Amino acid sequence: MNQPITSPIIPEYAVPVTAQIESLNPHYSAEKKQQVIAEIKQLLKEQDAVLVAHYYVEEDLQRLAEETGGYISDSLDMAKFGNEHPAKTLIVAGVRFMGETAKILTPEKRVLMPTLEAECSLDLSCPIEDFAPFCDQYPDHTVVVYANTSADVKARADYVVTSGIAVNLVKWLGDQGKKVLWAPDKHLGHYIEKVTGVEMVRWQGSCIVHDEFKNHSLGKLVEKHPDAAVLVHPESPANIIAMADSVGSTTQIINAAKNMPNKQFIVATDKAIFYKMKQAAPDKEFIAAPTHGEGATCISCAHCPWMAMNGLHNLLDVLKTGKNEIFVDENVRVKALQSTQRMLDFAQDHMS
Ligand code: 13P
Ligand code: SF4
Repeated sequence: MNQPITSPIIPEYAVPVTAQIESLNPHYSAEKKQQVIAEIKQLLKEQDAVLVAHYYVEEDLQRLAEETGGYISDSLDMAKFGNEHPAKTLIVAGVRFMGETAKILTPEKRVLMPTLEAECSLDLSCPIEDFAPFCDQYPDHTVVVYANTSADVKARADYVVTSGIAVNLVKWLGDQGKKVLWAPDKHLGHYIEKVTGVEMVRWQGSCIVHDEFKNHSLGKLVEKHPDAAVLVHPESPANIIAMADSVGSTTQIINAAKNMPNKQFIVATDKAIFYKMKQAAPDKEFIAAPTHGEGATCISCAHCPWMAMNGLHNLLDVLKTGKNEIFVDENVRVKALQSTQRMLDFAQDHMS
């Protein structure tokens, strides 16, 4: 791979600590929690609203989505569900780019989020002010960006992808002799290059949660559980991916747990996904991949601090007040829709 990787310096951004975020969220008594849940259910009905949650938000929210006819899934499917569901209001429990993607696909609906402070380190690492001039340096490249980006960055791209589709789409572009510029996740970019053989100019962002997995400690855990299969999200560093029995998006990880014959799994992704993994494979055991060991900071301890900002308390607040609505500038939305729609069309034509 001889192509130089030219990436601007990644801007500094503040990273909250998951344990601190969780300690700030109110801790309800069992009785109070039932009251809050009942109130939320009533307001969802009254406001013709549906709750769409990511696998990484807390269990109470995932259960509530299930109990009220909402949906729990990966970032792409959340947006597709919101688009197809008849409700007038979508409540997106996840991080900001997920609310924006819902609005890009479904502009006629009101899109609310429990919090607007829930960011994503990949999105923060790639501001449009730096990204647009970077793309301008490579006018002959097809710009492919991960869904974990702002609407502005999606609008500058030719294609949006999620982790479930990235390899197939880049391979398809490579087969046509296209040159590819990839942003923002350096680990996912490296993984795509390795699998497809398509050299890419790559941005150097990363996910602060997956970055914390440690290969030495993972090796020790594998030694302790020799029959366990290792499931890894491709936002993880290359030395973690190298130890995987299966690499895939959140939905693909859940499917692997269901379909692989193993009884035990070591899972390198946000541990909130265990709620759905246990449902999918109730007779199996799931062990979190280690974030401790040499060089560990454990800012997230395998649970995204921004996902942890979503809770019953701010969901109720948003339903009561109508605050935290997502707006996307119409010119930006139309362009971002083009690159997002190309992904949906590709999925339809090549992966179904
Ligand atoms: P998925 O698209 O696999 O749901 O991943 C989103 C994400 O933020 C993973 O960290
Ligand atoms: Fe972003 Fe990582 Fe959190 Fe996913 S887990 S939302 S990639 S910071």
